[in-house]
Amino acid sequence: MFCGKKHFDLEDIPDLTGKTAIITGANTGIGRVCALEMARKGCKIILACRTESKTLPVIEDIKKETGNDQLEFIPLDLLSLQSVTKFVETFKHRHDTLNILINNAGVMMCPFGLSQDGIETQFATNHVAHYYLTTQLIPLLEKSTPSRIVTVSSMGHRGCLGGLDLQNINNSKKYSRAGHYFKSKAANVLFTRELAKRLEAKGIKHVYANCNHPGVVNSDLTRHTMGSWANSLYNFFVTISTEDGATTQLYLATSPEIEQKNIKGQYYVPYSVVGQISSVASSDTNAKELWEFTENLLKEKVPGYQGSPI
Ligand SMILES: NC(=O)c1ccc[n+]([C@@H]2O[C@H](COP(=O)([O-])OP(=O)(O)OC[C@H]3O[C@@H](n4cnc5c(N)ncnc54)[C@H](OP(=O)(O)O)[C@@H]3O)[C@@H](O)[C@H]2O)c1
Repeated sequence: MFCGKKHFDLEDIPDLTGKTAIITGANTGIGRVCALEMARKGCKIILACRTESKTLPVIEDIKKETGNDQLEFIPLDLLSLQSVTKFVETFKHRHDTLNILINNAGVMMCPFGLSQDGIETQFATNHVAHYYLTTQLIPLLEKSTPSRIVTVSSMGHRGCLGGLDLQNINNSKKYSRAGHYFKSKAANVLFTRELAKRLEAKGIKHVYANCNHPGVVNSDLTRHTMGSWANSLYNFFVTISTEDGATTQLYLATSPEIEQKNIKGQYYVPYSVVGQISSVASSDTNAKELWEFTENLLKEKVPGYQGSPI
């Protein structure tokens, strides 16, 4: 895949001393590279991951490689809204600032399944849990301005042609592995655009919310889509490295240009350039509908849910 020339690379990440970041799905793939490269620049990083045994060795490796010992594991299983609630409580108990939130974790084209809350797996992981996580952290992000929210979408969002069909999102009979992945990734773009709009409307000027497509990257993401030999061939011939794949989200998460150019509510593609959003994901009506749908879902699924602060 042609991705164009880079105007921002890993060595351009600025000094992040004194900054605190949360990265979901940071134990492998693109998220791991983000954690490593931001740690190299002095950032305090919370690895929000579901498996302790996979995450602690990664933390040890990054500490050894960077000499930065401000890395911490807080469990987060995006297939459980209770786990998101617990994560936010633990994070707030331990930290009083949050400068960078990278909503990176994701699953692609898995067989039909439901989260612990009865929400389809891809929509639950890629959209609903990240929506809940982000909105619960808004007060802290606002307190810690300038701050950034980066939500990792995909060019696959362009495959969502007929709309999100939210009323049927949990219907196994209407399930398509690819179709639901595309919907969840269109939801990432719609969420980002509506979030940026609402932050602006509330006068929250210095929280910069953007999203990106990382590229077609050699990672574990294809675990549900191909057998291991097909996976190896695909990774060898088609993909870019996880380092290259991490570049665009690291640009959105750390580059001073984001504040200098007031970049908000945008979709970026490799390498760190504005990408084209599909018509489904550009629709303000779809963005508003998705926001309201997700709010109603959270009211139904999370005991005592007070609603998004924005
Ligand atoms: N790779 C690509 O070509 C590509 C293209 C477009 C977009 N993306 C997007 O880029 C992001 C990162 O993907 P990647 O390529 O780095 O994939 P990856 O190597 O498969 O990593 C995905 C990460 O998400 C975590 N995760 C999955 N389900 C979770 C859950 N329920 N709770 C907490 N964490 C969970 C995984 O944890 P476990 O290790 O515990 O499973 C892993 O850390 C995803 O959002 C993906 O959709 C990737």
